[in-house]
Order: sequence, then structure tokens, then C-alpha cells
Amino acid sequence: MLVVEDLRAGYGNLEVLHGVSLRVDAGEVVAVLGPNGAGKSTLLRTISGLLVPRGGGVRFEQRPLTGLQTHAIPLLGLLHVPEARHVFAQLSVEENLMVGGTPLAGSAERRAAIDEVWSLFPMLRDKARAAAGSLSGGQQQMLAIGRALMAKPRLVMLDEPSLGLAPVVVEELYLALGKLRRAGLTILLVEQDVHAALDFADRAYVLENGTIALEGAATALREDRHVREVYLGQ
Ligand SMILES: Nc1ncnc2c1ncn2[C@@H]1O[C@H](COP(=O)(O)OP(=O)(O)O)[C@@H](O)[C@H]1O
Ligand SMILES: [Mg+2]
Repeated sequence: MLVVEDLRAGYGNLEVLHGVSLRVDAGEVVAVLGPNGAGKSTLLRTISGLLVPRGGGVRFEQRPLTGLQTHAIPLLGLLHVPEARHVFAQLSVEENLMVGGTPLAGSAERRAAIDEVWSLFPMLRDKARAAAGSLSGGQQQMLAIGRALMAKPRLVMLDEPSLGLAPVVVEELYLALGKLRRAGLTILLVEQDVHAALDFADRAYVLENGTIALEGAATALREDRHVREVYLGQ
């Protein structure tokens, strides 16, 4: 579904990704793990067209993404929920969701999409009229995901969704992600919570210094010596 081939990207004189290749098949949950500064967010930014690759390329459902304008990529069904939860703080929760629907969707479709978000995250419905800026960190993360879902994605890329959240909120978030996966959504997940990520993902890649150091089934990586020592603290 998503194929990343020998991708190189960076900022100014700094090359961050030195030839990264990975793939995500339809229906899979794939995690990208790695230390701070490894280039995980840069990878997602390059896939979603916010950064122009210096080499290699990205294909989504066979279609090369290179050269597409940033706003064209979500319309293909590939949505990116960035690390900083960009919600519109002054707008209400419901208005934030309205903004997330594709411009093409009619109001009935948009209504139905909002109802799906309410059933996935019931606590957001209770806050429908509240300003997004007044929500807790976990609620803002759910809103950011809900907004991406309004565009009816086939693949979502989540950048550190559990960052800074209390364990009980992380659990709630992963319950919702589990429902989305069972509904057929494909997920590319960047996580600093390696336990949570390897419990949830089918496969994972370990990104270190802008290159893929390890890859494999999540169950195999949980047993891997390097992963255990460096990321699971065992
Ligand atoms: N906007 C930016 N401008 C310049 N350098 C950046 C920018 N964003 C990230 N970097 C650098 O790129 C490297 C990788 O960062 P990032 O992709 O955010 O890593 P990760 O998400 O794995 O923590 C780091 O050295 C970081 O300092
Ligand atoms: Mg990051």
C-alpha cells in the first residue's frame, strides 16, 4: 500500500534520512521505533510531502507521491497526524472536526463522519461545544486523530500519539486504535513507547541515525537482544 524506497531527506545542509526503505501493506499496523533525533518525524513529514526528498521516493497505492502538492496527498487517503497535536484552540471540538472533512463531502456525509468519531471517542461528544484549547492532552490527541478520520483515510500515520499522556489515557487511546484497525484502517505508527508499539503493531522498523537498523515481526523484535537492551531496558 505504502512503499518507501531509499529515501533521503533533511533540512538545509543536514541530511537526516540516509536511504530509508520500508513498506506498509493494506490492513497492517507498522511501527517505526528509534531514539530521539533518529529521523522518525522527518520520515513522516517526507512521506506526507511537507519535506521534499533528496533521493529515493514514496508510492501510495502504486502512485508516486513525489511532486504532488502537500494538500493533494490527504485527498488520496493518506493522512498524517503530526507530533504536535495541531488542533484549532479557539474553535469548538465539533468545529475542529468539520474542518477535517474533505471539501467534497456533503453535509450529510460530514454529519455521519462526525457520528463515527463520537462513537469512537465518546468523551469528545461530551465536549462537542467546548473550545479545543480547553481539552486535556489526551483529548486533544483524540481530536487530532478524529479530525484525520473525517477525511476517510485508508492509511493514517501517527507521530508519537501517546507522548506525554498518562498510562490510563494511553490505554484508552490504543483501545480506540484497535477498533480502527479492526475496521480495516492501515496504520503507520511512530512511538517512543516501545512496549505499547510492539504490543500493537504487526511489524516494526527500528530507525537509528537515519537508517533502518532492524526490522521484523513485532513478536520477533520483542525478543531481539538489541531491542531488549536499548529500548525495553532489559
Ligand atoms: N525543522 C528542522 N530544522 C532543522 N533540523 C531539524 C528540524 N526538525 C528536525 N531536525 C533535526 O533532524 C534530526 C531528526 O529529527 P526528527 O525527525 O524530529 O527525529 P525523531 O522524530 O526521530 O525524534 C534531528 O537531528 C533534528 O535536530
Ligand atoms: Mg519525532
